[in-house]
Amino acid sequence: MIYLKKYIPYLFLTLVSLYVLLYITWHTAPTDTIDQSSWSCQGEGRNTICEFTNFCIDSKTGPFIIHRDSQPPKINLINADPDGDMWFEPTRVNGPVKAIRMHQTLFVYGLYSPFHFSHFLYNGLIPLYSTMIEYGMPTDAWTMRALTHWTKNTPVDLLVPSEKDIVFDGKDLHTDKQIQPGHQTLCFSKAVVGTGNRCSLWHCDRHIPATHYASFKNYVFTKPHLPNNTCLTSIVHHKRTGKYRVGLLNRKSTRHITNLPELIDRLEKEGDFDIRSIDFDQSACDIVHTAQAVKDLDILIAPFGNGLGAGLFMKDDAVVISISARWYSEEWFKFSMTAIGRRIFNFECDRAECQEYEPELAASILKKYNVTLNATEMQAFMTEKYPGKTMRTYLPGKEWNPILQYQKDVARRVDVDKFIPYLRMIIENKPPKGVSYPDSCKTENVCCDKNCKGPLDRNIRNEHGPWQ
Ligand SMILES: *[C@@H]1O[C@H](CO)[C@@H](O)[C@H](O)[C@H]1NC(C)=O
Ligand SMILES: *[C@@H]1O[C@H](CO)[C@@H](O)[C@H](O)[C@H]1NC(C)=O
Ligand SMILES: *[C@@H]1O[C@H](CO)[C@@H](O)[C@H](O)[C@H]1NC(C)=O
Repeated sequence: MIYLKKYIPYLFLTLVSLYVLLYITWHTAPTDTIDQSSWSCQGEGRNTICEFTNFCIDSKTGPFIIHRDSQPPKINLINADPDGDMWFEPTRVNGPVKAIRMHQTLFVYGLYSPFHFSHFLYNGLIPLYSTMIEYGMPTDAWTMRALTHWTKNTPVDLLVPSEKDIVFDGKDLHTDKQIQPGHQTLCFSKAVVGTGNRCSLWHCDRHIPATHYASFKNYVFTKPHLPNNTCLTSIVHHKRTGKYRVGLLNRKSTRHITNLPELIDRLEKEGDFDIRSIDFDQSACDIVHTAQAVKDLDILIAPFGNGLGAGLFMKDDAVVISISARWYSEEWFKFSMTAIGRRIFNFECDRAECQEYEPELAASILKKYNVTLNATEMQAFMTEKYPGKTMRTYLPGKEWNPILQYQKDVARRVDVDKFIPYLRMIIENKPPKGVSYPDSCKTENVCCDKNCKGPLDRNIRNEHGPWQ
């Protein structure tokens, strides 16, 4: 007994050491053996989304799954038109692998033309965010960019609630969030692959619920902003009082509005407008600061294009007004805004007085098609609504490509005399509080202008649409 007693401290020490050793081994264990992956999918064709178990990644193999005999499905990761579809297929390996088991949920996505603010947002980031909501918005989500349609390596801020964002190209390491896979294999217990081709445009198979846009907007406003950011400090206040806060956005290179001072002047004289100019040509205008720049506006006026996408971050009863050039208008932003619930109007120029002529722009567009026009032809190209006959000689069957490009991008004037009554009509038609956005759309010229059938059919008058 005495002898045994002597050994008790040693026995105790041994046991403690053993326990500590086991604990350390268990916690730093680099590897588990992962036998097999499985998957199940919803949707079909280009709108398929698949959930995988044991979805693995390392620097040598890239993304892969483990299965002895079945090939994983190919999944489209892009949320745009069918021409933009890009198909992702993880590599398949036969045998079990040694890996670090990851209990986070991984979301695998693709981006469409991320250099473009609105494509990044409406065809990339928000579809991903919406998919994350659909799959329960796990608090420990990771993301992985598997494909990029055009403009690879654009610096982007992947503004979704994910801890880490796995990328395969070192040039895509833009913020602290991005990491590249290492030698050590990681296997995620659960991965959601694809976002199901969802967006608010006519060419997407699935819809994004209006509530998901609202949730994304709120999420962006939880992010800190710098008051000295040049996107905000470049705002010029022309008049600081007035019942309606108007933001005027111009563009420097293409689609420039040449008589904005005239419009500002007239708005000042009207008396009830608080007026400011905003400049999104600032590189500091990332999503967070763009949102700050427009959040208090009642009305945003901008040339047709990218900047209108900022409408998402405006107040729920705000209006977006697009200024088109003569002979060219597009519905792109009418689709996005009717899904979000933002009022949107296009102001067309239908008189020669608001038409501008840009021979240099015309020549540079034509140069891309290897076409040089003589003076008479150039005249026709810039002044006629249908210069197809002139162009057909040079580009038979494709004559409309440069024509439409020019008509879309050319500078423009605002027909101020017509604009002011149009603006008054828009203000007057604001629906009373308590009327839902879809209900307000039942009356013409309330949530969208008269030329809005396509967007309203898809996003409002649709039992599977964003408002259901
Ligand atoms: C803005 O302020 C932050 C922090 O106060 C500072 O780090 C940054 O350099 C400033 N930026 C500019 C453009 O002044
Ligand atoms: C224009 O010409 C160049 C050189 O001849 C050629 O490489 C290019 O493909 C042509 N572009 C088009 C749109 O025809
Ligand atoms: C310009 O080209 C057209 C043929 O496309 C020709 O008929 C016309 O005479 C030319 N005009 C001049 C001023 O060279």
